[in-house]
Amino acid sequence: MGRLSRKVALITGAGMGMGEAEAILFAKEGAKVIVTDINEEAGQDTINKIEKAGQKAEFMKLNVTDESNWTTVMRAVIEKYGKLDVLVNNAGILLFKTLEETTEDEWEGIFKVNTKGVFLGCKHAVEGMKKAGGGSIINISSIYGIIGAPSAAAYEASKGAVRELTKAAAADFAKYNIRVNSVHPGLIDTPMTSDIIKDPAQTKQVLSTTIMDRPGTPEEVALPVLMLASDESSYMTGSELVIDGGYTAR
Ligand SMILES: NC(=O)c1ccc[n+]([C@@H]2O[C@H](COP(=O)([O-])OP(=O)(O)OC[C@H]3O[C@@H](n4cnc5c(N)ncnc54)[C@H](O)[C@@H]3O)[C@@H](O)[C@H]2O)c1
Repeated sequence: MGRLSRKVALITGAGMGMGEAEAILFAKEGAKVIVTDINEEAGQDTINKIEKAGQKAEFMKLNVTDESNWTTVMRAVIEKYGKLDVLVNNAGILLFKTLEETTEDEWEGIFKVNTKGVFLGCKHAVEGMKKAGGGSIINISSIYGIIGAPSAAAYEASKGAVRELTKAAAADFAKYNIRVNSVHPGLIDTPMTSDIIKDPAQTKQVLSTTIMDRPGTPEEVALPVLMLASDESSYMTGSELVIDGGYTAR
């Protein structure tokens, strides 16, 4: 018996990085996983890895910024599986620019994916989760949704909004037995951060305040996300799970 057996789980941005690690782990733990991404090739690659590990999963193309995509995908999930138990709102994009350098278009582009995408996900998960008798939504924010740092103003504001949106959704959805929690990773080694991690000076700067003095792996985020997805976290809602090697601890 896996920790997610009989659960139907949809993960956004699951074509690479942390979303991919979560999809692989959830499938191993018995969930029926719907891998979604805007990038079909990357999504298919995740499916291949899941199948290579002896499990099955399904890919559906989903651009998190497009409400009609959410409607189509959720309709397909309900038609096929009858319900949705778990949603990980993981898709996100990064912009390294100071506030002064950030253009209006860039600000709106970041908010569209990182914040509106999460709002749409929460909104459209409800119908399938009501059919399941409840559910768990996990919103991937960041340590930069809690603390400030130079040169990522739009990203930080978008992730701060996800932190608060999570609490609002937890309050609105409790009546449906849907729990909503946010996750706040520190520096994690994924395609998003490969340029930072390749540059020793930048890595040193971030890690200078990380107690564990190393980046995390996608799997080290996927395991706590699994706990939030499972019934093991049945009394957690509206909470913030920090997974940062101690970055925000000092
Ligand atoms: N890597 C880190 O250090 C770090 C730290 C804190 C938080 N995060 C957050 O964790 C999440 C995952 O990050 P990652 O490092 O794995 O990123 P990544 O860039 O490695 O992967 C992100 C995935 O999201 C997909 N995506 C982008 N825009 C999309 C859209 N509009 N619709 C659907 N899919 C879309 C991409 O195609 C990609 O497959 C993001 O929300 C990110 O902001 C990352």
